[in-house]
Amino acid sequence: MHSSVKTVGNQRIMEQVPLKTIVEQQGSPCYAYSKAAISDNFLSYQRALASRDHLICYAVKSNSNIAVLQTLAKLGAGFDIVSAGELERVLMAGGDPTKVVYSGVAKTADEMRRALEVGIHCFNVESESELRLLNKTAAEVNKIAPVSLRVNPDVDAKTHPYISTGLKENKFGIDISRAFDVYQQAAQMDSIAVVGVDCHIGSQLTDITPFIDAMKHLLVLVDRLADAGIKLHHLDIGGGLGVCYQNEVVPSLESYMDALAPLLEGRTETLIMEPGRSITANAGILLMQVQVIKKNGDKNFAVVDAAMNDMLRPALYDAWMDINTVATECEHNAIYDVVGPVCETGDFLAKDRALSISEGDYLYLSSAGAYGFTMSSNYNSRPRVAEVMIDNEKIHLVRARETLEDLVRGEQLIEES
Ligand code: LLP
Repeated sequence: MHSSVKTVGNQRIMEQVPLKTIVEQQGSPCYAYSKAAISDNFLSYQRALASRDHLICYAVKSNSNIAVLQTLAKLGAGFDIVSAGELERVLMAGGDPTKVVYSGVAKTADEMRRALEVGIHCFNVESESELRLLNKTAAEVNKIAPVSLRVNPDVDAKTHPYISTGLKENKFGIDISRAFDVYQQAAQMDSIAVVGVDCHIGSQLTDITPFIDAMKHLLVLVDRLADAGIKLHHLDIGGGLGVCYQNEVVPSLESYMDALAPLLEGRTETLIMEPGRSITANAGILLMQVQVIKKNGDKNFAVVDAAMNDMLRPALYDAWMDINTVATECEHNAIYDVVGPVCETGDFLAKDRALSISEGDYLYLSSAGAYGFTMSSNYNSRPRVAEVMIDNEKIHLVRARETLEDLVRGEQLIEES
C-alpha cells in the first residue's frame, strides 16, 4: 500500500504533522492532503515523459480543491476539465488556460463561449452534434475552436464497469469507425481547427495493455488522416494509471512509457495525458471518529461520523479502501463493518476489518484524495467536511467545513397563502 501516512515512533504522521493533531485541530470528519505527495506524483509523470514533447493535464474531477490545482499549476501542469465550474477553478488557482483540454459528453454553448474567451488548448469533442454547436458558437464570437475528437476505440479496460469508458456500449466518444468521416467534416468547418485526437478508455487500470491497444487504434486513424491531408498535432491517451488501494500491482510509469515508445518512435505529435487518481488518491486521507460501537447478531459495527455522502466510492463501486486507527498501539480486537450514520444500508466505508477501537477513537481512510471530496454531497443534510493541506509542519485549511447557512444557501420559504 502506498500511503501519504507514515508511522514514526508511536505516531502516525502526514508530512511532519501527527494525524491526531490534524483532526483535533480541524475537527472530524476532515480530508487531509499531502502537498509533497501531490507534487511528487505529478513530478513522476513529468520525469517519465521528459524525453518526449508532452503535456500533462491533471484531471480536475479527481480533486478540484483550488489549493490542489494551485500546487499543480505552480509545477507547470495543464488541466483536463469537464465543466465551466472546473474551468473557473483552474483560472482561480492560477492555471494556464492554454494548457487546458476540455472533455465532457455534452458541453453547452455557454461553456464553449467561456472556454473560447479564455483560449483553451483544445476541446475534446465527443459527438457530431457537439462539433456543429462548437462551430456555430465559435463563429458567433469570431474565434476558431481548436478541436480533438474523442474517439471510442472499443477497447476493454478491464476495470469496474462503472469506470470503463472505451467500449462501444459506453456513452463516451465517437465510434472509431466513424471518426475519419467526422474529422473530414470538421476540417471543412470554418470555425474549427483540427489539432489532435484523444481517447479515455477507463479509470483505475492496472494493466497497460489496453492503453497500448488504444494507442495503436489511434495511430491507424492518425496516419489515415495524414494521408488525406489532415495533420494532427497531439495524441491524448486520456487518464493515468491506477493506484494501489489494497494489493493491486500497478505498473510503473516508466514501463508504460517503455511500452508506448516503439509505437511513438519517429513521431512528432505532442503526447498528452490526463491523470487524476494517480496524482491525488494516495496523497489524501479521510479522518473520522468512532461514534458508536454496536453488535447486531454476530456483526460488529463501528458507526463513524463520516458517511457515504463524504466518501461515496465504497457504496457506489463496492471499492475496497484501507482503514486504520490514528493511534498506533492497537491489537486487533474484533472484526468490524465501519459504517456511517446515513439512513441507507449501502452507507459503509469498510467491511469486515480487524480493528481495535473504542468509541471516541479516530480512524483514517487511506487513498481518499481522489474522487473523495469531489463526489461528496449534502445527502441527509450533512454539511460537507473540511479539507486541509499539509505542507511540512503546516496545516492549511483549504476548505472550511460547511455551516447550516451553507446547507440552505439559495433555498427560500414560500409565501403562505
Ligand atoms: N480524462 C477523462 C476524460 C476522464 O473521464 C477521466 C476520469 C480522467 C481523464 C482521469 O482518469 P484517472 O487518471 O483518474 O484514472 N469516480 C470513479 C472514477 C471516475 C473516473 C472518471 N473519469 C472512482 O472513484 O473510481
